[in-house]
Amino acid sequence: MLDKQFWETKHKESYGRYHKVTEFARFCYYNFMKDKKGKLLDLCCGKGADSIFFHNKGFIVTGMDYSSEGIKQFNETQKRYDIFLTALVKDITEPMQFEADSFNFVYSRAGLYYFTDEELKKTLSEVSRVMKSEGLLMFQVKSVNDKDYGKGKELEKDMYEDESGYVRHYFSKDYVEELLKDFHIVINEERNIPNGSAYLEVVAEKK
Ligand SMILES: C[S@@+](CC[C@H](N)C(=O)[O-])C[C@H]1O[C@@H](n2cnc3c(N)ncnc32)[C@H](O)[C@@H]1O
Repeated sequence: MLDKQFWETKHKESYGRYHKVTEFARFCYYNFMKDKKGKLLDLCCGKGADSIFFHNKGFIVTGMDYSSEGIKQFNETQKRYDIFLTALVKDITEPMQFEADSFNFVYSRAGLYYFTDEELKKTLSEVSRVMKSEGLLMFQVKSVNDKDYGKGKELEKDMYEDESGYVRHYFSKDYVEELLKDFHIVINEERNIPNGSAYLEVVAEKK
């Protein structure tokens, strides 16, 4: 797992940026959520742009991120727009305070690829516990075909730390299938960007 201080600094340095809804959030909404309502948990929500998008679409959103700077900026934006949604400063690898079957949606953009295999499996089992059956898990992570795959020190299979201390766990489609045994996978697709970045975009329904 990445040191929390790394993100405190990153969020401070990028003050005033990253406040726009992402393409992945729009993709999820228009393809899988448009006709639905319910509670959504945004894991590693950062400054909350996607959380706010889902809130504005009528979902009851809880954002969670371990960076107090990220959540501080998220709350400033909420104040500016006079909206309120729950934004928690919390490490997503720790047990969650929610009851079982609480959420219709769990969403995470660029949030689930900082963890070891063991941390990830434990986290996903907790995610599964707090999700309703037939709820949707939606996430975007870096793929093993990304341009930066293999750079830096290898921490474990498909996981590397670069010179700046930035850790990334790159996912293959097979790895997604291994992780999501409690889920019916709806999409598990690679998205390639012309600059060489490659992502896996995953939507899965809890069995
Ligand atoms: C690349 S940012 C993505 C933020 C947001 N989802 C977005 O798409 O703009 C990754 C986020 O993951 C958060 N993060 C990393 N490890 C975490 C952990 N163990 N628990 C909670 N948040 C974590 C960081 O603080 C950071 O805000």
